[in-house]
Amino acid sequence: MNILILGSGGREHGLAWAVMQNPKCDKLIVAPGNAGIADIADCADLDIMNGAAVVVFAEENAIDFVIVGPEAPLAVGVADDLRAAGFLVFGPSGAAAQLEASKSFTKEVCDAAGAPTAAYARFTDFDAAQDYVKSKGAPIVIKADGLAAGKGVIVAMTLDEALSAINDMFDGAFGGAGAEVVIEEFLDGEEASFFVLCDGKDALPIGTAQDHKRVGEGDTGPNTGGMGAYSPAPVMSETVTQKALTEIIEPSLAEMSRRGTPFQGVLFAGLMIKDGQPKLIEYNVRFGDPECQVLMMRLGAQVLDLLQASAEGRLAEARVNWADDHALTVVMAANGYPGRYEKGTAIKGLTASTEDSFNMVFHAGTSRKDGQIVATGGRVLNVTARGATLSEAAERAYAMVDQIEWTEGFCRRDIGWRAL
Ligand code: AMP
Ligand code: GLY
Repeated sequence: MNILILGSGGREHGLAWAVMQNPKCDKLIVAPGNAGIADIADCADLDIMNGAAVVVFAEENAIDFVIVGPEAPLAVGVADDLRAAGFLVFGPSGAAAQLEASKSFTKEVCDAAGAPTAAYARFTDFDAAQDYVKSKGAPIVIKADGLAAGKGVIVAMTLDEALSAINDMFDGAFGGAGAEVVIEEFLDGEEASFFVLCDGKDALPIGTAQDHKRVGEGDTGPNTGGMGAYSPAPVMSETVTQKALTEIIEPSLAEMSRRGTPFQGVLFAGLMIKDGQPKLIEYNVRFGDPECQVLMMRLGAQVLDLLQASAEGRLAEARVNWADDHALTVVMAANGYPGRYEKGTAIKGLTASTEDSFNMVFHAGTSRKDGQIVATGGRVLNVTARGATLSEAAERAYAMVDQIEWTEGFCRRDIGWRAL
């Protein structure tokens, strides 16, 4: 099987690493990829937002299966273009990707499905939004409606913060994404991520994870794309997982089918759990980054069979081969992230780390320059390990971190602290 993965982050490195271990994989191309991915697969320069260009590339390279990593190409319908050209694709249609691309769309689906989520109201009018916030008081959550690269959410603990967030959004701080604002009840509890494969009819849970969104130790400081993650999430007990599946995921999928836009791909539910009751915070229509890396570490080669079963509508007969293990990933980021940071700094010591099915350094933002690996983004490496316990996984991951020489980078030393 010739496989094409679209994307260039740690998530796509994780997917590529798992997929290429499967004997069914004859050839693997990742577009555009990065320096770490280039060690295990061919990388191709391709505009993955251009569906027509992706179709031509897939035809020229005799691709049998396309796996779409990030949300942006999904939201613009790249999976639709590929399917229309006859390709087998893992990833939802543009219409189904609205579950991530529009927060108000997700709220409508949840309402129709009876899925527990935060109470909300939506506004296109500044004065009405202000009056609503004043009537509800803080804490309260203000969200830009559209895709804002994970940054369009303000959890306001005071009324002043809430009012200034509304100001910023209507002022265009998030561009078109803020033209409509969703204002939500603040949910209290513990957050977890739940990943479910879907084929338009059936749903197959493939794991849970928790991530650390704040840049600082003890979960303090500004929000980031994620500074580390671990799987499984202890808060996702068997009962909570079952409730999330039957009360939230399955009714939402049934509603998507009822609308004529069935969901096929991975549904990533961000949940808030309190007193054993999960509520939906948000849906994403792709794997989390860095959550994907810990899931791939645990699932390994079977990932290809599972993604293929999802794309071919065969999930009813698919089974996950679970190991009773734990995985943890530590994100190494450029000094200054999530604010201003330098690009192009050299990273050494990567070859020292022994990479095997227990230890892997996934690359998120790297390229190769004059024979050296250099940092090209904010989040740069995902140092990932697996173990029989979470503490074993953490020890292995930090042992690898300690071998990496990169004075212009940093990481949190406390990933997994809540669970450990
Ligand atoms: P989102 O982009 O919707 O995942 O929101 C980003 C983060 O904001 C979430 O991971 C939560 O930590 C927080 N958040 C979002 N909505 C709520 C809510 N209704 N109550 C409390 N926290 C929230
Ligand atoms: N790590 C959070 C996300 O991928 O949305």
